[in-house]
Amino acid sequence: MANYARVIGTGGYLPSTQRTNDDISEFVETSDAWIFERTGIKSRRIAGDQETASSMAEIAARQAIAMAGIQPEEIDAIIVATGTPDRVYPSTGCLLQNRLGIKNCVAFDIQAACSGAIFGLSIADQYIKTGTYQKVLVVGSEICSRIVDWSDRGTCILFGDGAGAVLLERSEDAGILSTHIHADGQYEELLYLPNPQAALPENVNEAGYINMRGNEVFKVAVNTLGRIVDETLEANNMQKSEIDWLVPHQANIRIIEATAKKLKMSMEQVVVTLESQGNTSSASVLLALNEAVRDGRIQRGQILLLEAFGAGFTWGSALIRY
Ligand code: UT7
Repeated sequence: MANYARVIGTGGYLPSTQRTNDDISEFVETSDAWIFERTGIKSRRIAGDQETASSMAEIAARQAIAMAGIQPEEIDAIIVATGTPDRVYPSTGCLLQNRLGIKNCVAFDIQAACSGAIFGLSIADQYIKTGTYQKVLVVGSEICSRIVDWSDRGTCILFGDGAGAVLLERSEDAGILSTHIHADGQYEELLYLPNPQAALPENVNEAGYINMRGNEVFKVAVNTLGRIVDETLEANNMQKSEIDWLVPHQANIRIIEATAKKLKMSMEQVVVTLESQGNTSSASVLLALNEAVRDGRIQRGQILLLEAFGAGFTWGSALIRY
């Protein structure tokens, strides 16, 4: 019975401009050594003036479509995760649909901050499993550089721009084995992006930049990701040793290492991109997946654990037989 969502294409896009730790240390009090030691990041990409979430999404999506060897009009649904939409509406999904020249599919955005790609995979999986759709495109695209306060050293060192895409198709061969998504809205004040235009009167003068109490977020992230690993393995009656690759959200190397340790995995089995990309929010997991698929590390038949944690808080995982 055909009831899996199988990965048939991946894509990724990174803007060409790099901003190194040394570049940042010219305008805030920090250093390459501090940033690298505390985060694992050396540089991040910065979108050009003419780039938007939808323009970057298009490049990543076209790569995924080409890898899958399908025509864009075969896609039944487009799901875009972004915290930096070109416009509040139309959704970036609709803008991407138009860019891809698709006339007849559904397209929408989801908002789950850094967990957006995992939420997108979960939604796509439900539609494919039920037979509603055959082919679903999931994209994470972010221009974080426009929503960070470049005078705040607690956040500006972390984030970068980019887009990742994955194309899923209903298949009899195993694909997504399970997804697990969660939210807990009580942590709003630890990590949020104000929306000055729709703010309460008392918050109306808040600038539209990421606010984060990094150290507190860090602690919750480590604990929460540890729990999601257990939940995912239990749901699939699987042992830690059966996982071939951890494909984590790229927030901080120390968070990633903690999850790898919990899984008793060596860092050789973890896809790490943050050294040169920073945290690209909802794009990061799909960018990492794309990189490891294209360089041949990830092979057909292997078991992948994708996971992410972000504002909300939101968190989730996807277990995939690639
Ligand atoms: O993707 C969504 C989820 N986001 C995350 O998961 C982010 C999680 N948080 C983090 O990655 C880390 O908390 C940071 C990298 C943001 C900060 O690292 P930390 O080890 O938690 O440092 P801290 O905030 O506890 O600060 C330690 C010290 C402070 O100085 P004092 O008070 O000890 O004198 C900070 O002022 O480091 C100072 N500091 C810096 N120093 C140099 C904070 N940022 C910087 C900086 N350069 N950029």
